[in-house]
Amino acid sequence: MEKYVIRGGKPLVGDVNIGGAKNAAVAILPATILAGGKCLIENLPCISDVMASLQILSELGANIRMVSRSTYEIDTTHIDSTEVSNELSRQMRASYYFLGALLGRFGSGQVAMPGGCNLGPRPIDQHLKAFTALGAQDSVEYGQIHVRAEHLSGGHVFFDTVSVGATMNAMLAAVLAEGTTVLENVAREPHIVDLANFLNMMGADVHGAGTDVIKIHGVKSLHGCNYSIIPDQIEAGSYMVAAAITKGDITLHNVIPKHMEPITAKLRAAGCTVEEFDDALRISRTGELRPLKLKTMPHPGFPTDMQPLMTALLTLANGTSIVTEGIWENRFRYVDELIRMGANIQVDGQVAVIEGVSALHPAPLRATDLRAGAAMVMAALAADGTSEVDETIHIERGYENIVEKLQLLGADIRRVEIPANAVSRAM
Ligand code: EPU
Repeated sequence: MEKYVIRGGKPLVGDVNIGGAKNAAVAILPATILAGGKCLIENLPCISDVMASLQILSELGANIRMVSRSTYEIDTTHIDSTEVSNELSRQMRASYYFLGALLGRFGSGQVAMPGGCNLGPRPIDQHLKAFTALGAQDSVEYGQIHVRAEHLSGGHVFFDTVSVGATMNAMLAAVLAEGTTVLENVAREPHIVDLANFLNMMGADVHGAGTDVIKIHGVKSLHGCNYSIIPDQIEAGSYMVAAAITKGDITLHNVIPKHMEPITAKLRAAGCTVEEFDDALRISRTGELRPLKLKTMPHPGFPTDMQPLMTALLTLANGTSIVTEGIWENRFRYVDELIRMGANIQVDGQVAVIEGVSALHPAPLRATDLRAGAAMVMAALAADGTSEVDETIHIERGYENIVEKLQLLGADIRRVEIPANAVSRAM
């Protein structure tokens, strides 16, 4: 196990390249199954969730060739299994996308039920509702969820809640179903549009992605293609917070400024200067941080995955901020860590009230989940002195080379191996 040792208090300055979007990659990789052919996928982020997805594809029988660190050729012609192994499906919550893709191509798919979660309950009833509308049945045995259909045909789904995962899974299952599928009240995140573009590149007929109704005309077969994944909105937003919290000046490359708008608007309101270019964005802060009111919502609202990072930032604002979590039931678990750094935060249910303080103090910190872990790193970069962040395995699920990228921006951060006996004593 590793921890990060961070000596904070320095402004971060320079350039950073943003990688491909995790939440697009973890759907597009399973989607290659539908091609039954060769796909070249570029701009894959080098993170453990992507490695787990590739490993699942390989176990199912796909042929995988690494072309470069961020480009893989995936040949799904000879996939001969429809069951994702328990161990791999539990490594990553997004393994549920294999259900939609395997069901779409083979009429059957099996993965372990997505495990207990640290953001609150994560039901998949809306995924199953969509599969049922297409003619599939599901069953759960020994923690395995199995979906199967004799014949998939187009259906009409009105989602009870706006769900990224259910929208994408329904798209995966519907592209090869016979007839037309209409999905209403769908998610509109940039990664929904990216998946639709990828499916259409493979020969699918998907319309309306990015609006709240998606229409899919089923086609008989799909084919391989070359595709480059969009940049990661949340990784980019995290480096924007790194500039904002350290009074730095960072230029982000390989971003789509339009995707960043909900985040850019809030950071400007907090007192940052943001300049937008074609595929780059520069953010700096010289003055004081202003407090904010923000509520997380489905796209184009403020993204929930930025919530812990913004809360960390607002601990240093001059005044009282109110952050409301509108997606997950339990996404403030990390607040205790910030309080140990001297932050003044009260949480009541889904609402955090943050009284800004003049400085954060270094502390031993835990990454309670992926985005909370990134928020700890940003808080530690702002605190004058040495902090340590534990359980970094969560962070590396979603941030490629975070230590190296921060070092290039001038951060004093390093990975330190925790000796095995120290880990067992601590557990
Ligand atoms: N929901 C249901 N039933 C369902 C599905 C979802 O009630 O069948 C509820 C959830 O409990 C939640 C809300 O709907 O309250 C939204 O959940 P959604 O399905 O949109 O989330 P997800 O697809 O499981 C993805 C991202 C999350 C991100 C959310 C919201 C991936 C792999 N994960 O999760 O990302 O927070 O959308 O934008 O795409 C992260 O990257 O750190 C992360 C947690």
